[in-house]
Amino acid sequence: MKTIKVCIGSACHIKGSYEVIEIFKELIEEYKLQTKVELCGSFCLGKCRDAVSVMRWDEKIFSISKENAREMFKNEFISYL
Ligand code: FES
Repeated sequence: MKTIKVCIGSACHIKGSYEVIEIFKELIEEYKLQTKVELCGSFCLGKCRDAVSVMRWDEKIFSISKENAREMFKNEFISYL
């Protein structure tokens, strides 16, 4: 199981981490990845200026918005499973 951590610290919360989590949840269902990927919230990942920060299982951190969430999920997460 690979873990994706979405920051729910204050800067990321303000910039929409909740929406990013909802979009990622939909995509996990859409691509039937429930047995491969788990989503969890995280404390501040130290990249508040790039909020919303999301950490991939290899600890690479991405700056994700609700606008680019779908594209980033496909390019940076699904491609690396
Ligand atoms: S609050 Fe999200 S990286 Fe700091």
